Amino acid sequence: MTREPIATHRVGHVSDSHFTASGSMHGTVHPAATYSGALAALEGSGIPIDALVHTGDVADHGEADAYVAAATVTRETTQRTGWPVLWAVGNHDVRAAMAPALLGEPATDEPLDRVLEVRGLRLVTLDTSIPGRVEGAVTEAQAEWLRAVLAEPAEHGTVLALHHPPVPVEVTAMARLHLTEQDRLEAALAGSDVRAILGGHLHYATSSVFAGVPVHVAPATAYTIRLTKPGGGVIAVDGARAAGLLSLYDDGRVGYSALPADPQHVLDSTPEDVFTTMGVDVEH
Ligand SMILES: [Fe+2]
Ligand SMILES: [Fe+2]
Repeated sequence: MTREPIATHRVGHVSDSHFTASGSMHGTVHPAATYSGALAALEGSGIPIDALVHTGDVADHGEADAYVAAATVTRETTQRTGWPVLWAVGNHDVRAAMAPALLGEPATDEPLDRVLEVRGLRLVTLDTSIPGRVEGAVTEAQAEWLRAVLAEPAEHGTVLALHHPPVPVEVTAMARLHLTEQDRLEAALAGSDVRAILGGHLHYATSSVFAGVPVHVAPATAYTIRLTKPGGGVIAVDGARAAGLLSLYDDGRVGYSALPADPQHVLDSTPEDVFTTMGVDVEH
């Protein structure tokens, strides 16, 4: 007898929207439209989502107007869905412009590390950006802060969101732009209730395990980086965008699904009742 686990919480995941003040990038990409497509994929699924996490590079050049656009497009969805939103800071972001527009907080150059609790699930963002640099880091002060946050377990555990993901990187040029000080992060996570880590930065979907915790990287909503042979540089393509959905189950497991975010049409649709007498009994 098998029992299908029931999801207690779900977190929508988007990354690397790269909003620009001009409204376009690489000539043909409109970051507001491609990001909006990712939010539409999440909302259009009809799956109940508890919170939305953006894992950074919200803006391409950190312009104030780009963050205002990001806030506006996000609100168009969240005013219907009610999703609370948590923002991680990426290497393209500028804290002083991001804090007022997205967090409703005064401008600051300090790391934007934040905690949000949703029905007993704790969501934590760690700001891995280093102003003026592309690679990421976790400072000793941040590791201490994280240890303090995690000292008391949350009822349903914790999801950690950050821009630079602690995963092995296939694209060698991107590996040079990696998260440094990973041992600090690993030590801070030891013995904690963190059930999943969400990241971005790489612009392609990948997953791994870090400190015993599954790590899921969402592709960018702006443009995708193609996997290339070692030493193959970086090739950006217009397509293959996706949002992610992290599902947290009542048996302790997590699952991660990709939702294609580029325009697509339905080939066929079969109603649920066709399946109700088949195979495994499923509660939902
Ligand atoms: Fe990015
Ligand atoms: Fe990045």
